[in-house]
Order: sequence, then C-alpha cells, then structure tokens
Amino acid sequence: MGILGAGPVTQAIHLPSLARLRDILEVRHIMDVDPAVAESVAARVGARFSTSVEELLADPAVEIVAICSPHQFHAVQVIAACRAGKKAVLCEKPFAMNGEEAAAIAAISAETGVPIVVGAMHTFDPGWLAAESAWGGLPDQVHTIRSSIVLPPNPRFEDFATEIVGRTPPPAAATAGANAAASGAAADAAEKAKLTGGVIGLAIHDLPLVRRFAPDFRAVEVLHAQTVLPFGYVISLRAGSVAIELRAAMNGTWEPSWTFEAIGDDASLSIDFTPSYVHAGSATARIRTAASTTVLGPFGHNGYEGEWRKLAELARGTGTAPHPETLIHDLEFALAIADAAAACVDAGAAYEEARA
Ligand SMILES: NC(=O)c1ccc[n+]([C@@H]2O[C@H](COP(=O)([O-])OP(=O)(O)OC[C@H]3O[C@@H](n4cnc5c(N)ncnc54)[C@H](O)[C@@H]3O)[C@@H](O)[C@H]2O)c1
Repeated sequence: MGILGAGPVTQAIHLPSLARLRDILEVRHIMDVDPAVAESVAARVGARFSTSVEELLADPAVEIVAICSPHQFHAVQVIAACRAGKKAVLCEKPFAMNGEEAAAIAAISAETGVPIVVGAMHTFDPGWLAAESAWGGLPDQVHTIRSSIVLPPNPRFEDFATEIVGRTPPPAAATAGANAAASGAAADAAEKAKLTGGVIGLAIHDLPLVRRFAPDFRAVEVLHAQTVLPFGYVISLRAGSVAIELRAAMNGTWEPSWTFEAIGDDASLSIDFTPSYVHAGSATARIRTAASTTVLGPFGHNGYEGEWRKLAELARGTGTAPHPETLIHDLEFALAIADAAAACVDAGAAYEEARA
C-alpha cells in the first residue's frame, strides 16, 4: 500500500496499526509534499518516498492508497486513486468538503468499481459492530442520543505513540483566548469557524453512529451551539423526533473519555470507546433492557485496525464495501449540523444587536 500525507495521523495512528498487520498489508510508498517528512517516515517502514501524488499512483507496488493529507485535498486525491485503477482506497475523515465533491467521489467509485473506505474508525470497531448485531429493534425506539468526547490535545497522544517529524504549529486563531481578544464580527467569524471545525473535524467521528438512530437525518434543527475553550463544543439539536447532544472538550485532562449513548423507551445502548490515537483494544458496549444488561467487548483490536482489515479484504475482492450512498448521507448530515450550528452564532448576534 501507499500513503498520501505523512503527518501526525500517519505517524502516530496508521503506522503503529499497520505494524501489527504485516501479514496482510505492507507499506511500499509514502508521499508527502514535505520531502524531509516523506523521507523520514518512509525510512521507518523501509518504503520508497516521493513528493508527488502522480509518482505514488504510478508505482505498481501500490495496490491500496490511504489518503491522510489535510481535508481540502481529500476529494481530488480519492478521485485520482480511483482513476489510477487501485484495488481499494482509504480516505481520512472528512472524505469531502461539500456535497458536490462527495457526489463526484461516489460517481467515480461506481464507474471504476474501486471501493472506498472512510476513516470513521468507530464504525469499524468490533465493540460497535457487536452491538449492531445484538441491538435488535433498538433504533425504532431511540429518542435521545449523546456523544461525549473529553480528550487531551492531539499532540499529547501523538508524542506518546511516536517521535513526530514535521508537525504543523496550530493556527493563531486556535489558541485559547483568541476569541476573547477579537470583537464583534471578527469574534463571530472565529466562533463559527471553531464550531464548524469541531463538527467536521471531531464530532464527525460519531455522526455515522448517531445517524443509525436518527433516520430523519435531513430534518436537522440546531437548538443551541457554543464553543468551549480551549477547544470543544456543546451542540444540542433535533433530527426529526430524536434529541441529540454533542459535546467535546479538548483540555489538560488526565482521564480521556469517549462515550456514545442511544436511549430508548425501555432499552438503551452505551459505548465506551478507546480514545483516538490509543491502541488498546476495542470499545465496550452495553445494551440494557429492564430484564438484563449485555456487555460486549472489549475485543482485541480497535477501529483503526478494523478499517485496515476491511481494506485488505476489499483489495482481495472479498468483503462488502461501504455503500457510497451511506458515505454521502453521513457527510450531508455532518455538513448540515455544521451549517446550522454556525447559523446559531448569527441568530445570537442578531438577538444581542436587537437588545442593544
Ligand atoms: N482518524 C483519526 O482519529 C484522526 C485524528 C486526527 C486527524 N485525522 C484526519 O487525518 C488527516 C491528517 O491529519 P494530520 O493531523 O496528520 O494532518 P496534518 O495537516 O498535520 O498533516 C498532514 C500531512 O500532509 C502533508 N500534506 C500537505 N499537503 C499535502 C498534499 N497536497 N498531499 C499530500 N500530503 C500533503 C503535510 O505536509 C503533512 O505532513 C486529516 O484529514 C484529519 O482530519 C484523523
């Protein structure tokens, strides 16, 4: 396989996962626009390196392509990998920045027959998959969903995992207190960007899970949306008749926690996920009814390893590829929440102006 983009996610998440899967997958080529990063990361796994997408795609040793570059390059690189006739493509989330890009990807996947996996790792976590097989009619009765993420900032986990080369410093606007220093329209724009970034960058991990319990996913109404310092959000919304709470805080926590709950009239599901970047087995799921609690997991591997195993299966021509329509709907749901959350900032500003 070959990897486009060799930043912290490739170095701290994917290469450690792939190191455990050498019997089925081998990294042959690493590309990054920064030659020093490409060379150093490729050397760790004895792969070729380059700074050009075309060169990696033309390499006959590369059968599977993983796209781990920044968001804005994902769609064009997924499309190029499909056109290059590769056997399967993994794209980090979000796989596209808007509905048009997502539709173009679905079309190329259908035309070329190249299966695409999006790196929403929890959808490949054996704990989630076991819950899905066991929950029976739960989705029909769920009225409330909570996704709650409390994590240290990514660099802390990255540094536990490996020695990162070429880390990009965070933009000034992402630092604590930057909003407080800005005022008026600039502060509103910063708040909107942080909300949108929070949904598209972090909440998006579990929105495919939320959507399984919110069939009316197009009827999104955001009731409340606010950022949390230094990074995070509190968003309360409705999708049809289902109430959804999305919370995240990235701070100096010593106790990471990533939970998902779907609560119905007389049954519920709660899942504790291992934090992102952590390679310590799968999530543990609990399905509760009045009569019993079923505990599923933890299993031996996590969702990152799950997505690579799926990819290897697809490249061998076995296994079922995720349906492109599912991927598009997941993205539409995330974009609708991000837009509606940002619109809440406008509504708040208009209210303050009217009051003044
Ligand atoms: N699954 C997860 O748990 C998880 C966690 C964090 C981030 N991510 C996603 O992974 C992706 C990468 O994240 P990161 O933190 O490593 O990002 P990053 O921006 O820090 O690093 C990306 C790397 O891509 C390189 N790059 C820039 N332009 C490129 C191009 N056109 N083609 C190829 N490479 C290019 C950069 O030089 C850098 O080395 C993002 O899409 C992000 O959303 C996933």
